[in-house]
Amino acid sequence: MLTTLWLLLSLAVPVPGFYTPISCPRGQKCQLALLSGNDVLLECPLFGGHWKYYFSMSKESRAYDPSKVSNIEITSENNLAITNPLPSQKGLYHCWDKSNTEVIQFEIDFQDMSTVHITHNALQVMPLQNQSVREGSREIMFTQWEPWQDCNRCGVPGERKRLGYCYVDEPLEDPMPCGLYLGEVLGWSSRMRPEVQVETCLVECKDTSFAPVGFVIYDNFKFNEEQESLWLHCPIASMYRPVSWEANNTPLTWQNELSGKNLHSTLDIPSGGRQLQIFQPAIYRCFVEQEVVAQFNPLGALKPKEPQTRENKTQEPVSKTLSIPLWLKLLPFVGTVLVLGLLLLKTLSPLSGKSRNRTLLVK
Ligand SMILES: *[C@@H]1O[C@H](CO)[C@@H](O)[C@H](O)[C@H]1NC(C)=O
Ligand SMILES: *[C@@H]1O[C@H](CO)[C@@H](O)[C@H](O)[C@H]1NC(C)=O
Repeated sequence: MLTTLWLLLSLAVPVPGFYTPISCPRGQKCQLALLSGNDVLLECPLFGGHWKYYFSMSKESRAYDPSKVSNIEITSENNLAITNPLPSQKGLYHCWDKSNTEVIQFEIDFQDMSTVHITHNALQVMPLQNQSVREGSREIMFTQWEPWQDCNRCGVPGERKRLGYCYVDEPLEDPMPCGLYLGEVLGWSSRMRPEVQVETCLVECKDTSFAPVGFVIYDNFKFNEEQESLWLHCPIASMYRPVSWEANNTPLTWQNELSGKNLHSTLDIPSGGRQLQIFQPAIYRCFVEQEVVAQFNPLGALKPKEPQTRENKTQEPVSKTLSIPLWLKLLPFVGTVLVLGLLLLKTLSPLSGKSRNRTLLVK
């Protein structure tokens, strides 16, 4: 129930999706690297504060009101929700109180996910090497690794990953994100890339009664005759969370994606699998933090379309029958959180514009 309450609170914001929260202690300046293309929520621990944003580190640069930028929104809790941040949006984000005292300052390098370097323990790819910033200089560009995320599945083989950010190590100083260090000085270097390491894993399922996510979305899709492919959107999926997709119960692994073996789909790696491009009908499910959060059923593809089928009242649509076990499993929880369901439906609807007949279940 706590999870639900928390969900309810965090969703009472006028933005779609779930944003990865980024906080900084009050009164401090936090310098950090994040990823482009993955939603974040910068937290200001002060009600009634206001945000300012400087595009670059230089003192002359102008301050902007971030709420005027199209992919940035200030939430009702006065946090800054950044949707699909661009590498060019690195800079200083300040939160000030009413008397113009700075409460916190984020200095953020949004590292470019379109240039990400990915390695997998089952594939022969080497991680990036350390490299001097200039010939012979003592400043070294290296990858600073985050902890490993959880396995993306439990009870069955899965994969886990860790994110690595490009940092510059200079003698006697703390390491600094490459984009902040080099941005003004050197422009771009080919070593300035975020990294991701992926490895296979197998963990048991913990018997937790509080699902980390708390809802399942059921959606239908249909290929039109002229359409070669469709995009499915996994709500709240992001590079910052363990995400996994499957088609007809077969996992669409990162390993297969990286080695070109996911033949009928393409996992969008830069968004951490928030999107999946599909080329043929199947039942697709996506998991976030080991829990199913969405299931996409093909409309019309699994049942014949002849006119007599429509008249035969004993025949149930296939997709409905398939959903029943999950519905039953989750039914006891539904009543408690209807409000949340409505909220979510409203909040998440822009995420998959092409789809129809969305059903939302709260567990
Ligand atoms: C790369 O550089 C970092 C930071 O200076 C250092 O901690 C690490 O040991 C280096 N790695 C190698 C393989 O030299
Ligand atoms: C309806 O469908 C069932 C199962 O496919 C079939 O056995 C039955 O003959 C059908 N009835 C009619 C009236 O078509």
